[in-house]
Amino acid sequence: MTNVPVSIPRSPSAADYTAEGDRPLIPETSDPFELLEIWLKDANEHEPNDSTAMSLATVDADGMPDVRIVLLRGLNPLDGLQFYTNYESAKGAQLAAHPKAALCFHWKSLRRQVRIRGTIRKSTPEQSDAYFQQRAPQSRIAAIASDQSRPLENRDVFNQRVAEISSIYGDDDDIPRPEHWGGYRLMPTEIEFWQDQAFRMHDRLKLVRDAESWTQSRLYP
Ligand SMILES: Cc1cc2nc3c(=O)[nH]c(=O)nc-3n(C[C@H](O)[C@H](O)[C@H](O)COP(=O)(O)O)c2cc1C
Repeated sequence: MTNVPVSIPRSPSAADYTAEGDRPLIPETSDPFELLEIWLKDANEHEPNDSTAMSLATVDADGMPDVRIVLLRGLNPLDGLQFYTNYESAKGAQLAAHPKAALCFHWKSLRRQVRIRGTIRKSTPEQSDAYFQQRAPQSRIAAIASDQSRPLENRDVFNQRVAEISSIYGDDDDIPRPEHWGGYRLMPTEIEFWQDQAFRMHDRLKLVRDAESWTQSRLYP
């Protein structure tokens, strides 16, 4: 028998599933953006923190996968799924070389997952400016000060840089976006919705983009 640490909960029993009651099935849809909006709204009502957090998977120059969390900041069929970051970060370099990525949401309280694959484009400078201006002044200063993903000698060096940039702007709210920071848009080619069901008989609905429409199919769990 394998030695399972106590920190790993055991698989749910029949009684556990009965106690939790029925889980919903995923509705049929030909518009994955509409369903994703509904699930994001549900997540916003149920998740304690960061309901728009999603894993962003990329590959580096050697084809080695990489993954990290970013926050979804915009969603529509024209611009896809938008997130903001440092263009000179590790993910920025990876996306410049391979402008394809995958996203994955997991909402634990709802027992739902959404997986998305697609191509990547930068947001327009106007879109990035508009989002940057919505951020708190200190968050804008942090974005200017951070050489995201590159080595930091110690925290004091960063604090010093933040203090210097803060002193330039003082109480001025007009803090312009640095060129190294902005948005990306993932244009989905595939979106899969996943809803947990009792006894691991999960429900999966996959939509694949086909010219201007989406073809849907159910998948085995
Ligand atoms: C909940 C959460 C939200 C995050 N949101 C972002 C984000 O929107 N943009 C970003 O650049 N990093 C965000 N991060 C930090 C990234 O996960 C990551 O540490 C950073 O972007 C550097 O990644 P890279 O070195 O692969 O480029 C977030 C982390 C967490 C845990």
